Amino acid sequence: MSSSSTVDLSHHLSNEAKLRLPNPMKEIWRLARRKPNMVSLANGDPHSSLYPIKGLQFEVASLEEEDPVAAWRTAGPSAPSQILKSSRDDPCILPVQTAFQYTTGAGLVEAQQALTELANFYHNPPDHVVTLTLGNGDAVTKCFRLLGNPGDHFLADEFTFSALANAAVPQGIRWVPLKIDEGGLIPEELERTMADWNEERGPRPHVLYTVPCGQNPPGSTLTVERRKKIYELAQRFDLVIIEDDPYYFLQYTSPASSDGAEARALSPSFVSIDVDGRVLRVDSFSKIIAPGMRLGWITSSAFFHAHLVTYTDSATQHPHAFGQIFITELLGPAGWSVKGFDKWVRSLRNEYQRRRDLFLSLFEKEVGPTGLARAGTPEAGMFVWARINVERHPRFRRDTGAAGARTNCRQLMVELFEKCLDGGLVVMPASVFALTLDPKYNDAENPIEDRFNYFRLTFAGTEEAMREGLAILGLSLREFFEQK
Ligand SMILES: Cc1ncc(COP(=O)(O)O)c(C=O)c1O
Repeated sequence: MSSSSTVDLSHHLSNEAKLRLPNPMKEIWRLARRKPNMVSLANGDPHSSLYPIKGLQFEVASLEEEDPVAAWRTAGPSAPSQILKSSRDDPCILPVQTAFQYTTGAGLVEAQQALTELANFYHNPPDHVVTLTLGNGDAVTKCFRLLGNPGDHFLADEFTFSALANAAVPQGIRWVPLKIDEGGLIPEELERTMADWNEERGPRPHVLYTVPCGQNPPGSTLTVERRKKIYELAQRFDLVIIEDDPYYFLQYTSPASSDGAEARALSPSFVSIDVDGRVLRVDSFSKIIAPGMRLGWITSSAFFHAHLVTYTDSATQHPHAFGQIFITELLGPAGWSVKGFDKWVRSLRNEYQRRRDLFLSLFEKEVGPTGLARAGTPEAGMFVWARINVERHPRFRRDTGAAGARTNCRQLMVELFEKCLDGGLVVMPASVFALTLDPKYNDAENPIEDRFNYFRLTFAGTEEAMREGLAILGLSLREFFEQK
């Protein structure tokens, strides 16, 4: 990855990003690192001899086994492991003295290098730079702050990860929902929305927020063709793409071909085809190591990287040393290395694929015979988007009037949700993920509420949870649809 973007995208920056000045103390701090042995009387950096930490050890799974995740999961206390170390006194990539010192908002150089190697291995993006983050929640909200002014319009799937979509709302960003199908974001919908944009509505959308693999909640994954088309549209309509991709490593083959089949090739990411520097790719260790890692990285043009660093230098500062040590040593020669990491995530992918297939077969057994719900087959991620055939309920109503088709889908789904709760099952209703949009621009012919007849279900938990949960769902559906 070198460091220049070819297209000037500075007009996408928010006023906040333009007004943010580099932290002047960090600038001086950088000068102190200009050459070795500089004498610094400048910064209040606690001296490393006063850190009450001699060393740090992490015990992680060893990769000796053919299928390391299965071996790790089943072997219990005797599971083969290996030690990653950071020390004050012994050689290691990130010694305690360096790791626990202040650094820049980009993260420690060693951690940045390790993640650059990882990003190159999977995406080989042209002209991009890595910035460390505290996971995708942190990264995406920073991207919103980087790009969004009050009154700006951002585009996203009409059902999307609401925790982050909500974060943009108090900033004054207005969401423009795009209709989706089983393959996720429909390029023609994006094209139509941009081409038909009515300037009276306000500024044209200039950012697309998307989750290309195993979208949360509908579980959809964009095909290569759609990705290419969406990128072309981003170029044509001058959009910046925030590619939030925490499920990238969890991409599956179809159930029919999954028995012993080699894991499918990972889809090319938006950043891998980004020649303009208009993609901010957001990766996380939450789903492949552990959510409490609170560590991730953004791969972006040097231009956006510089602004992200400026932001971080005057806010949270770089991520914690613990995670940076862990990941640097894990990806280094004394740890798994990038090749070993790839072996682990392939094995993890197989494990989640097994869980997905078990989930789908249990769904067929417990829910399928009711004919009241249908499960989509996710090609990535952790979620099954189950369609409830709400139109079969005896109290289902479709009113056609001046406002067009409207149903009582929303109300029936609230009742079904309560019914499941009474039965002892919690699910995520679609309504939780619907983008809040300006009611003036709601599609009166086809309102989003009429598509609330989905539950997001996960196969990330235990086999027992899947068995019990789907049995309750089957029973709840039967009883609910029998009600008058
Ligand atoms: C689409 C999406 N983005 C971001 C996140 C948050 O990720 P992190 O734990 O890295 O902050 C999640 C977590 O569920 C997610 O599904």
